[in-house]
Amino acid sequence: MEKRKIGTLEVSAMGLGCMGFSHGHGPAPEHDEAIKLIRAAHDKGCTFFDTAEGYAKGANEELVGEAVKPFRGDIVLATKLHIPENPDDLGKAVRQHLDASLKRLQTDYVDVYYQHRMNKTVPAEDVAVVMGELIAEGKIRGWGQSQSSEDEVRRAHAVTPLTAVQSEYSMMERMFERDVIPACKELGIGFVPFSPLGEGFLSGKYTERDVFVGDDVRRAITRYKKENIRANQPLLDLLHRIAGEHEATPAQIALAWMLCKEGFIVPIPGMRSIARFDENFGACDVKLSSDDIARIEGELSRIEIHGNRTDEDIIGFDYR
Ligand SMILES: NC(=O)c1ccc[n+]([C@@H]2O[C@H](COP(=O)([O-])OP(=O)(O)OC[C@H]3O[C@@H](n4cnc5c(N)ncnc54)[C@H](OP(=O)(O)O)[C@@H]3O)[C@@H](O)[C@H]2O)c1
Repeated sequence: MEKRKIGTLEVSAMGLGCMGFSHGHGPAPEHDEAIKLIRAAHDKGCTFFDTAEGYAKGANEELVGEAVKPFRGDIVLATKLHIPENPDDLGKAVRQHLDASLKRLQTDYVDVYYQHRMNKTVPAEDVAVVMGELIAEGKIRGWGQSQSSEDEVRRAHAVTPLTAVQSEYSMMERMFERDVIPACKELGIGFVPFSPLGEGFLSGKYTERDVFVGDDVRRAITRYKKENIRANQPLLDLLHRIAGEHEATPAQIALAWMLCKEGFIVPIPGMRSIARFDENFGACDVKLSSDDIARIEGELSRIEIHGNRTDEDIIGFDYR
């Protein structure tokens, strides 16, 4: 797979979002099957793996740590922490979270350590100071923010350069195109889209008849309401049309669209089968011309998206 740079780190052009192996997308594969799949992604050229302390209360970090152990040194392993509000000692709080993650991941360093959500009471600059110390100590190689504003990116980056910003970005959610993505371009920061397939919607494989169960966040995602699945059909029609022209699939076009935009964009779709690895990683080989992109942009500008941003929908979602 093609390689890209996020900050100073080199990664495969597409990463693997590992959340669904334990959390958030309904019944997870058995442990051994999940280990096999994560390793298979590496065999297929993926060198960028994404987890978080919050996915299944640390169980996802344990799973990913075990899976990547045989090739730990060859990959970029990213995890995330939620920083408590009003910490007595910010450095101590972050170190406690990091040490627990390192133990679960069976490693002594994290490549990209993300602040999972921005804090109300902890200035971005203060977090950047602590992350700078952790880089100097060799406990992390780089760091990032998730769902941050342009202002938060700039203020933090001025203190300790950011490796990556990881935020929701897809044909269904483009608010970061306005300011954060241009700021990443200017400052040499990678941009890592999460939910790049709109939680799978952009694959065109889900219909009104699908029922989501258990901890599947799509129970709460309004873009998956029956009436919104119908109302968002024009977007799928566009994807099917462009896919037909390129002998590709809608998911591949949705991913190729963002890959073709900027070389510092590295999506991390969640996927749990070899067939989906082949399909989604295959998007790296779909080359959209500037004419294709212009046509897609023109059509997208006329398509209204029905349903909220993911963050708005999942506040208060009960993952049990
Ligand atoms: N920073 C944050 O706050 C944040 C928030 C959410 C997610 N994330 C990260 O981003 C990663 C990806 O986001 P996401 O999982 O929310 O959304 P996504 O990648 O847009 O969609 C994942 C869903 O789409 C399905 N899918 C993937 N490829 C498909 C294909 N080719 N055809 C049909 N269905 C397909 C997957 O099914 P299967 O899994 O069943 O194959 C899964 O249900 C996560 O794993 C996580 O690491 C970060």
